[in-house]
Amino acid sequence: MGTRLWILMLVVNQVAAFRRPAEDLPCQVVHEDVDCSSLSLRRVPAHLQMPASVHLLDLSQNLLQNLTAQELLAFSSVRHLNLHANKIQFIQPGLFQNMSRLEVLDLSDNSLDLYATLKTYIGPLSSVRHLDLSGNGLFTDMSDYFLSDAPLLANLSLDGNSITKISKDTFNGSQALTNIDLHNNVIIEIEEGAFESLTGLSELDLSVNSISCITDFNLVQLKTLNLSKNSLTSFQTIDSDLQFELLYLDLRENKILYFPVLPQRNKLMYLDLSRNLLRSVNCSGPLEELENLKASGYLFTDHDKPLCLCVNQRHQDLPRLLYLDLSYNQLKAIPSSFFSSMVSLESLNISNNCLENFSVDAESPLNSLKTLDISYNNLQNLSFGENTLAALEVLHLQGNAFSTLDAGIFSRLPNIRSLHLQENLFSICPPLQGPTYNCIQLSSIPTLSYLYLSENSLMSIPSGAFRGSPLLILDLSGNPDVDLGPSSLSGLETSLAHLSLRGNQLQTLAVDFTLFRKLKTLDLSVNRLTGVSLWSGDSSVESLNLQNNSLVTLAPDTVFALQKTLKILYVGSNPLSCCGNPYLLTLLQQDRLDVPDITAATCWYTRDSESVEISVSAVQQEHCESVDRKVLWISVIVVLALGLTLVSVVSLKLCHSKTHGFKRGIKA
Ligand SMILES: *[C@@H]1O[C@H](CO)[C@@H](O)[C@H](O)[C@H]1NC(C)=O
Ligand SMILES: *[C@@H]1O[C@H](CO)[C@@H](O)[C@H](O)[C@H]1NC(C)=O
Ligand SMILES: *[C@@H]1O[C@H](CO)[C@@H](O)[C@H](O)[C@H]1NC(C)=O
Ligand SMILES: *[C@@H]1O[C@H](CO)[C@@H](O)[C@H](O)[C@H]1NC(C)=O
Ligand SMILES: *[C@@H]1O[C@H](CO)[C@@H](O)[C@H](O)[C@H]1NC(C)=O
Ligand SMILES: *[C@@H]1O[C@H](CO)[C@@H](O)[C@H](O)[C@H]1NC(C)=O
Ligand SMILES: *[C@@H]1O[C@H](CO)[C@@H](O)[C@H](O)[C@H]1NC(C)=O
Ligand SMILES: *[C@@H]1O[C@H](CO)[C@@H](O)[C@H](O)[C@H]1NC(C)=O
Ligand SMILES: *[C@@H]1O[C@H](CO)[C@@H](O)[C@H](O)[C@H]1NC(C)=O
Ligand SMILES: *[C@@H]1O[C@H](CO)[C@@H](O)[C@H](O)[C@H]1NC(C)=O
Repeated sequence: MGTRLWILMLVVNQVAAFRRPAEDLPCQVVHEDVDCSSLSLRRVPAHLQMPASVHLLDLSQNLLQNLTAQELLAFSSVRHLNLHANKIQFIQPGLFQNMSRLEVLDLSDNSLDLYATLKTYIGPLSSVRHLDLSGNGLFTDMSDYFLSDAPLLANLSLDGNSITKISKDTFNGSQALTNIDLHNNVIIEIEEGAFESLTGLSELDLSVNSISCITDFNLVQLKTLNLSKNSLTSFQTIDSDLQFELLYLDLRENKILYFPVLPQRNKLMYLDLSRNLLRSVNCSGPLEELENLKASGYLFTDHDKPLCLCVNQRHQDLPRLLYLDLSYNQLKAIPSSFFSSMVSLESLNISNNCLENFSVDAESPLNSLKTLDISYNNLQNLSFGENTLAALEVLHLQGNAFSTLDAGIFSRLPNIRSLHLQENLFSICPPLQGPTYNCIQLSSIPTLSYLYLSENSLMSIPSGAFRGSPLLILDLSGNPDVDLGPSSLSGLETSLAHLSLRGNQLQTLAVDFTLFRKLKTLDLSVNRLTGVSLWSGDSSVESLNLQNNSLVTLAPDTVFALQKTLKILYVGSNPLSCCGNPYLLTLLQQDRLDVPDITAATCWYTRDSESVEISVSAVQQEHCESVDRKVLWISVIVVLALGLTLVSVVSLKLCHSKTHGFKRGIKA
């Protein structure tokens, strides 16, 4: 008894000993990391039982207002101090001076604009390499109070402040900067010399600002420059023979009219000019056009510099360019010579322009290009010269006005894998047709796996149209009244995995899908099918879409063929019969089958000689029994009536013969 009490007391003492520090120190300590985040703290917790040296002190998401040396005395060894999302408006000057190991200082989402109004410098940031001042409401020049003495600072974020001007002295005290993030400010002006002295600067993010013109880009050492979402009307590099290190240039979403003047000697890999106002790939327009633009105030030149430095419209050399995006501009034409230096180009996007003509010729063969997107233009004509586009895998031609093309144009692309031909007016050639036919050849392209032909007003799919092209995905949707015969798809039996015939107004379909052993997805939605007897034997289909057809019943053999592999079935918007579909209803009730449109899946039954629509999941035996009972009643009546009739007839006969007999008897 005594020993037990002793043990109990020991346990209680242990628990108390364990709990007391937890009350003093709400923070969690793991090795050298102290996590005090999200605790509604108004001051840095005192009496912390601290590890001998703290690596990370996380005080983010609290209510700290004033940072004083006394409070942070115990943390002089901290390397990473996270003060994100507090209400800091005062920092004791010199506070960080004694934190000789402090490398990462996160002061984002505080109220340091209030501190800056005191016009006091925070003092040296002797060892800080990464400083985050984003989201502090800082105006122009306010950053000076934080950056005046940061000799090792490499990464600086000023994202989401209210800076309007970068002056030439802004980064005076932080000469080691390599990454500067000025995203989402309201920068209108950058003084000459602001970045030039930062010899290690490699990444500069000026996206989402209000810069209207870059006329003398000269940051030779910069690797990444993001100027997306500004108001740029032009981008011009200084005239220089120096080698520029620039790899990524993002000029997306500006108002640029002419192709930028890029460094003559460049290593540019990535250039995004999408969503601008480019009218041509020349780097300036005709003289009178420029004068007009200048007069209207749209273009302004810096001092007396000529606006365009590109001499004689010489096309610029971009030998290392991998990615060029010109989508969403106003280009009417691109001379094929424009691409002559782009020997490395892998991805070219000119979608959503006004091109009427596009050609690739032997002088600029684009033989590294893997993806070409010229969708949504006004293209009627396309020509690919001999031995061009040898690496092309993906071609987007959708949304143009193509009706005829050189019939064999795709067969000459030795690596073509994916053809996006939707929203055009193509017709498909029968296989092995002569070249005079007004159609495109889609058979015998041994690399082709993905083919999109929706909304082409296709009249017919000739038999064997895709033979010799091992298609995995075939989209023939949105071609109303297309003539699809039993052998239209022949040749695809061993490859086809996804087929869409949606929205084709099909009333019947004469394809035996048992032959298509790899078919996993079959979309037959939005047609007028009254039955789907599409499997002579087994089916491999996992997802079947029968939505919006005219199906009344699904034949038992179809259900049997499907049920082994089917995982997803859409049946909504069909005039299904509740009582004529026992197999389908059983299938729908199986747990392993997913019916995403179950709420739209209804069926009809007859009650008091009226048609009634209910959800397929609400069908009960009685809905159909009532019919059975009526049938039973009628049968009973009929049987009774028949029986009665029979009885009457027999008895009449009997009477008759008796009478006869009687008569006979009388006779006899
Ligand atoms: C912060 O400092 C200011 C001025 O020094 C003072 O008025 C304020 O009370 C302090 N706030 C806290 C929470 O210590
Ligand atoms: C920094 O450290 C020195 C010497 O240890 C001390 O005299 C000074 O008061 C400290 N400064 C602050 C702001 O804590
Ligand atoms: C600086 O930023 C870059 C890119 O954002 C990152 O890769 C690098 O690790 C950062 N350096 C430091 C010291 O935080
Ligand atoms: C920056 O440096 C220049 C020259 O080195 C000097 O004139 C200027 O005062 C400095 N500005 C700041 C804010 O320290
Ligand atoms: C440039 O900045 C925008 C906006 O912040 C961003 O979406 C885009 O990815 C950046 N571009 C590059 C090349 O990093
Ligand atoms: C581009 O420059 C060339 C050569 O000067 C000229 O022939 C062509 O018309 C210009 N294109 C446009 C759209 O200004
Ligand atoms: C081309 O650009 C458009 C618009 O920016 C985009 O939607 C499309 O996905 C791009 N094409 C490719 C192949 O990336
Ligand atoms: C289309 O380009 C080809 C080849 O560059 C050229 O012969 C033809 O005239 C152009 N057609 C139009 C309408 O510009
Ligand atoms: C299409 O281009 C070919 C070859 O460049 C040319 O012969 C033909 O006239 C062009 N057709 C149209 C409609 O521009
Ligand atoms: C069936 O498809 C047609 C054609 O797209 C559409 O107009 C109609 O609303 C659809 N009906 C249902 C019930 O979804």
